[in-house]
Amino acid sequence: MPKIVIISSSVRTGRKSHRVALYFKEYITQQQMGEVEILDLDSYKFPIFDERLRFQKNPSEKMLEVAGKIKNADGVLIVTPEYNGGYPASLKNIVDLLYDEWYHKPIGIAMVSEGAFGGTQVITSLQFTLWKIRALVATSMFPVPKVNDSFDENGNAVNKEGTDKRANSFLKELLWMMEACEKMKK
Ligand SMILES: Cc1cc2nc3c(=O)[nH]c(=O)nc-3n(C[C@H](O)[C@H](O)[C@H](O)COP(=O)(O)O)c2cc1C
Repeated sequence: MPKIVIISSSVRTGRKSHRVALYFKEYITQQQMGEVEILDLDSYKFPIFDERLRFQKNPSEKMLEVAGKIKNADGVLIVTPEYNGGYPASLKNIVDLLYDEWYHKPIGIAMVSEGAFGGTQVITSLQFTLWKIRALVATSMFPVPKVNDSFDENGNAVNKEGTDKRANSFLKELLWMMEACEKMKK
């Protein structure tokens, strides 16, 4: 089974977007779409970026661990909140930290907001940055408006049927790209 890493980007106290990461872990596992693990940036507590990993003399174990997880993943699903129309510093921190690890990495983006627009403004800056770093962003997205009303704390969707349907078509695009990349390696 393909390996999928879900990056839960918010490190905010009382964060809500982590619910969406929990939802995808459960959904992908249930549907047997891949082996999935959550890379929870809140548990790493990385300091503000000061140099790229490959130029660090004594990189921390945690940074090496994250680099290994991204490198080994067949695909990455980024769950990001929208902060002032952009993505959080915690996410930029690890995007800039790594380099080769992102190369041709299939990536799906789920954007989360408490408002009505589902974090749709975050996509422009994040997609551009991921393109600059030579990742392959899947041609689908998963916007989550009003996260408070649509997912509970354990990641259960309030409208399970509708959410599962949307998740399925979103993940299909990511899985397609993962399969295409796999074929190119042969
Ligand atoms: C500093 C900050 C800026 C925010 N800016 C936006 C925004 O521009 N658009 C939006 O829809 N929600 C915005 N929100 C609300 C987030 O969408 C909300 O916190 C949501 O639950 C996702 O983030 P979380 O995982 O940190 O909870 C902002 C929240 C914070 C803390």
